[in-house]
Amino acid sequence: MPNRPTLTTEAGAPVADNQHSQTAGPTGPVLLQDHHLIEKLARFNRERIPERVVHAVGSAAYGYLEVTSPDVPRWTRMKIFARTGKRTPVLLRFSTVAGSRGAADTARDPRGFALKVYSEDGNWDLVGNNTPVFFLRDGIKFPDFIHSQKPDPFTNRQEPDAVWDFFSRSPEATHQFTWLFGDRGIPASYRHMDGFGSHTYQWVNAAGERSWVKFHFKTDQGIRCLTSAEAAAIGGSDPTHHQQDLYDAIARGDFPSWTVKVQVMPAAAAANYRFDPFDLTKVWPYRDHPLVTIGRLVLDRVPDSYFAEVEQAAFDPANFVPGIGPSPDRMLQARLFAYGDAHRYRLGVNHTRLPVNAPRGVEGGARNYGRDGAMRFDDDGGRARSYEPNGFDGPAQTGEAYDLAYEVSGAVGPAAPVHHAEDDDFVQAGALYRVMAPDARERLVENLAGSLAQVSRDDVIARSIGHFRKADPDYGARVEAAVAAKRAAAARRSP
Ligand code: HEM
Repeated sequence: MPNRPTLTTEAGAPVADNQHSQTAGPTGPVLLQDHHLIEKLARFNRERIPERVVHAVGSAAYGYLEVTSPDVPRWTRMKIFARTGKRTPVLLRFSTVAGSRGAADTARDPRGFALKVYSEDGNWDLVGNNTPVFFLRDGIKFPDFIHSQKPDPFTNRQEPDAVWDFFSRSPEATHQFTWLFGDRGIPASYRHMDGFGSHTYQWVNAAGERSWVKFHFKTDQGIRCLTSAEAAAIGGSDPTHHQQDLYDAIARGDFPSWTVKVQVMPAAAAANYRFDPFDLTKVWPYRDHPLVTIGRLVLDRVPDSYFAEVEQAAFDPANFVPGIGPSPDRMLQARLFAYGDAHRYRLGVNHTRLPVNAPRGVEGGARNYGRDGAMRFDDDGGRARSYEPNGFDGPAQTGEAYDLAYEVSGAVGPAAPVHHAEDDDFVQAGALYRVMAPDARERLVENLAGSLAQVSRDDVIARSIGHFRKADPDYGARVEAAVAAKRAAAARRSP
């Protein structure tokens, strides 16, 4: 065929034959000297890297974050929000949580909403979900929680016994379970759901004043969801449904977008708030802290290589930029360690230099005294000094903190939680139940009972129903009745 480039080995040498192995005579065995064959097979054996320990199934697209409000500098000196109309490039990765790669996109599971903003002050990663809350409020419970959701060590399938045993002993998950088993537990696509930063973050403005902030991304496509039956049908015939939907929409120029909003709490208000404002199992009611629109997030381009730009993408909640920092949220604090550590295991220490993760907005890229490591593929700093302080040249610190120091008190040691008047595991779960329309409550109860009725232990079922009852007596009573009906029907069916 004319005009096709020459096929080469990894060393760039021309390949003479890519269809036949070298053999000892026309009928003899294959030769070890066939370097192209050996290299091709060996490379193939090494194609897989460890999948993400959670959120392994996902899809991503590029786009931009555009500022639509002049007000943001009142609260933060983040450069991306400096003026109305300013656009900064982003990568957004959506995901499900529990499944391994290849699992259906349509699982009943939270959806990840991981944003990387390539700002001129470095990459800011906001690694959130499509839910404003989470199952837990302390990161020390995260590995156990995930084990209860992942395949059982013996049966190698998700076990309702494990899911509900853990839940029944973790009442703080009642709010998120109510969310997850409700209508929004299965979005119709990644485009038809909201995103949330979920945690509380610290914003600091140019005058050195602090606020606490939560991020909300409201879908401009409208919320659409699947019922359990619809999800099972779509997932069975088209497991990559969400990926296809995203790619098709962008290909036809129907660019998905989200309106970016924030809730801002003045720093001084946190100490005396009704409940712990850093508790990830709770939302801040809008009547206390109204939503303020600040921008627009638009996706307009899909990656050329799924592996290079999605599988190798590394989102890290510890990637802050001047003007934003962490809050004392205990889940966020655990995550500040977990992601960089996961990336160094999954991708290697030089993953930060991969094109998708490198700071695209910073002239000259990352500048520091880190050197060497496996697969360092750039000039490794060339002739420049590799230590600091030095009397020659090289990058120097700014001396300007991103955020502000804040006062803490009490003794070091096992956690002694601070009590706010309305700290409680059930109030917001009950409120969520009560705002649902009657038919939505019906589906919620049916979805919960469908799963809970499969549990083998009566005490686990009773404790779980107890959580729903504490959220709202009607909620608990209806789940109890639905579970009893399903168990009775199952007993009638079994011989
Ligand atoms: C992915 C740990 C809580 C959202 C991950 C990964 C780890 C992890 C190790 C894989 C990272 C990688 O290999 O690239 C944890 C721990 C948590 C926690 C220890 C609790 C202490 C949360 C919460 C949210 C969240 C509360 C959302 C509010 C995500 C998302 C991803 C992810 C969206 C996928 C990021 C991507 O698209 O690459 N988590 N996680 N996680 N986590 Fe968490």
